Amino acid sequence: MRDIEMNSKTVTNANRRCRLLVTGIPTDAVVDRAVDEFDVQFWRETDPIGDRLVEKSSGFDAVLVMPDDKLDRDLIGRLSPSIKVLATHSVGYDHIDVAAATARRLPVFNTPDVLTDAVADIALFLILAAARRTTSAEVALRNGEWGRWAPTLFLGRSLDRQRLGIFGMGRIGMAIASRASAFGMLVHYHNRSRLSVDKERGAQFHDSLESLLSVSDMFCICAPSTPQLRGIIDAKRLAMLPFGAMVVNIARGDLVDEAALFAAVQEGRVGAVGTDVYRGEPNIDARWLDLTNATLLPHIGSATHEVRTAMGMLALDGIHSHFSGVPAANLLNPQVYAVTRRSGD
Ligand code: DGY
Repeated sequence: MRDIEMNSKTVTNANRRCRLLVTGIPTDAVVDRAVDEFDVQFWRETDPIGDRLVEKSSGFDAVLVMPDDKLDRDLIGRLSPSIKVLATHSVGYDHIDVAAATARRLPVFNTPDVLTDAVADIALFLILAAARRTTSAEVALRNGEWGRWAPTLFLGRSLDRQRLGIFGMGRIGMAIASRASAFGMLVHYHNRSRLSVDKERGAQFHDSLESLLSVSDMFCICAPSTPQLRGIIDAKRLAMLPFGAMVVNIARGDLVDEAALFAAVQEGRVGAVGTDVYRGEPNIDARWLDLTNATLLPHIGSATHEVRTAMGMLALDGIHSHFSGVPAANLLNPQVYAVTRRSGD
């Protein structure tokens, strides 16, 4: 790489500051750093940027996108040739065709680790809300329907000894497991590969999703959205859950066949739902709003001041690292640099 770093500013090989386009407004601390280190433009639109990024990218060296900006193969192919590096203000990167970026020799950075605890906290919130039916209880209170104390009023389920099935035991899945264990839940999981015993911490591995579903009183979706997994929680698999099981999703909405989930709730096969994610969010299926035994959050898993700042900083670190010649660890496609080195660029 010929790009160099000078005076702690992020500069390109033409000795000028890197021109950075950011498709949203990060937290103040991230804005301040970006202004200090880059020639930055914040481009906030009401809707995700879509195709407009093609024209807008002209003359910029780097783009930091938001998780609702879709960068598919076609769009990446048409980005301005001036763009040298991409970053996303998210750990999930299902909205970016990383293979297409690699083919264009564009490094892509994301924001792993810093949001793990915050997302696991929200998962526990949803698990508790689903088990204790807090949303319907709160709605009753707000509607003036809270009557006399009664032994059977607002009954939910205790978490102690409930079997929690975690689908996707990565960093976030493991953080959920350790919190759930503290509540007395019995943790089961399915993952592409089994964890080492020290990471498992007593959780029981299932070598198939189907086996996990059959023991999940509470089923928690933590898997990434990949083409193979999209729609995997369908009618057939929902029917494998114990009758009345609860479903929590903190990963991505498109892992679930929502029509099948609504039908399962209608029939009582799924007893309660807690979700932070939806297909087509923020324009969600109106049937969600009719589910009384559901707790619905607007994708706030990582939404704390501290975490959103850490995410923005990590994304900037990635972009900075590209121009300093030592790519940071949050790089999704290290092959880009191997290709660069092979071609002697
Ligand atoms: C992520 O980082 O992928 C989250 O889902 C966005 O908050």
